[in-house]
Amino acid sequence: MEIIRKTDALLATVSSARERGLRIGLVPTMGALHAGHLSLVERSVAENDMTIVSVFVNPTQFNNATDLATYPRDEEHDIKLLSGAGATVVYMPSVEEVYPEGTAAAGSHVFDLGSAAEVMEGKMRPGHFQGVAQIVSRLFRLTQADVAYFGEKDFQQIAVIRNMIKSEGINIDIVACPIRRADDGLALSSRNALLSDDQRRRAPRIYETLKESVEYSKSHSVRETHHYVVSKINSVEEMEVEYFEIVDARTLLPVEEWSESPWIVGCITVYNGKVRLIDNILYRKEI
Ligand code: PAJ
Repeated sequence: MEIIRKTDALLATVSSARERGLRIGLVPTMGALHAGHLSLVERSVAENDMTIVSVFVNPTQFNNATDLATYPRDEEHDIKLLSGAGATVVYMPSVEEVYPEGTAAAGSHVFDLGSAAEVMEGKMRPGHFQGVAQIVSRLFRLTQADVAYFGEKDFQQIAVIRNMIKSEGINIDIVACPIRRADDGLALSSRNALLSDDQRRRAPRIYETLKESVEYSKSHSVRETHHYVVSKINSVEEMEVEYFEIVDARTLLPVEEWSESPWIVGCITVYNGKVRLIDNILYRKEI
């Protein structure tokens, strides 16, 4: 596995791969890797000649300085895991390497991300998806990847990236991969490392409640199901739901009736102490 820190070196590796006609898969990450990330890497390794994994904590997508400062980082461990998973290249650039013009100037181009970027994470974290679009579009162009892999844990992120490639005219396939969970159901996340023992012990209540709510939804309205989830999770010590939205999976806009859309998901963000956890659940897929 080649470890690349400089953009010039990445461009050289990519152009030689292109000359050899290799199919390139890309897995963008912010490091502190776990089995969820590795499931994306393994899928790319199985489906492509070359897999590039980027490990870069992108400052422009954080709208909270403490969140950026406390984001977990473990480069050595990441390298070990990626080499075990069969990645061909790990691209670990500095902030200056990615944003030579400065991070503020990167915002001068405003991406058209559609209405999917306005709700939920878009509302709670202003500028977040512009930041995601800045880094992801750069990675798509630099790596010239044929295909990029993203996790459904960040369900909204995938919809926003699909809108971004359309509006930017970037030709790349996007593959959505299922959420990997711990044995107790908690969605794997780099942020789980920040939980105290008590918080970690209570964290599976999020997915447990979401799963129960799928049963509940079969005999209750959207509004009742919403209430069920929010009140149950808020009753857990140290937990507070930031938002829970039951939405059309394609537009990410809220639905009021189950009959309104053939594909409905519930997206949730919960503060467990100070740690912000996200998850989602499928209610209906009939397409
Ligand atoms: P990060 O949170 O590191 O996640 C990298 C990729 O791993 C994302 O596509 C995410 O959805 C996926 N992922 C995380 N946890 C997962 C799990 N439990 N199961 C399956 N997939 C999982 O998402 C980002 O980084 C950034 O926004 C990024 C796209 C890299 C841009 O900076």
